[in-house]
Amino acid sequence: MVIRKLNIDEKPPMDFLLLADPSRIIFEEYMQRGECFVAEDDGQIIGSYVLLPIRPETVELVNIAVIETLHGKGLGKQLVMNAIEVAKSNGYRTIEVGTGNSSIGQLALYQKYGFRITGVDIDFFIRHYSEEIFENSIQCRDMIRLSQDL
Ligand code: COA
Repeated sequence: MVIRKLNIDEKPPMDFLLLADPSRIIFEEYMQRGECFVAEDDGQIIGSYVLLPIRPETVELVNIAVIETLHGKGLGKQLVMNAIEVAKSNGYRTIEVGTGNSSIGQLALYQKYGFRITGVDIDFFIRHYSEEIFENSIQCRDMIRLSQDL
């Protein structure tokens, strides 16, 4: 398995990148401003993430996703660690990530790999998404913001 930057002439793996964020409009904006990285195994894309510059020395990890059949096998951890390394080697001082209040596994993953909770954007998902989102029987309403110094 290799993790590499997607070339400018390659199509992003929309289907499962949208697993991470059901809003196509937000995703397309990310793709214009950010850089997409993919995990590939035998030529098949099995995971992906986008690094989005949000301030001069800060980058945000967005749209991290692993193909559903491979969840729980450590690939998400490898993508998070790769994103941290790429951000560091590109000279960023801080990496941020945001996830839903209902995304229990994601909150565990990010904190296990060095992110600390820095804030809550109350009602973010109510304001920005037209449909209600439920995970783990919890309504996703607020965005939990996490950050890590590099
Ligand atoms: N409680 C405690 N730890 C949990 C957990 C829970 N409920 N759920 C997951 N974890 C931990 C795992 O045990 C693992 O820890 P470890 O590295 O110490 O073993 C870690 O989180 C990540 O597991 P991993 O197998 O690497 O994750 P994954 O390959 O399944 O990928 C996602 C994680 C989030 C990328 C994947 O589930 C996905 O693509 N989800 C859909 C898209 C999405 O929600 N993206 C995030 C948007 S914010």
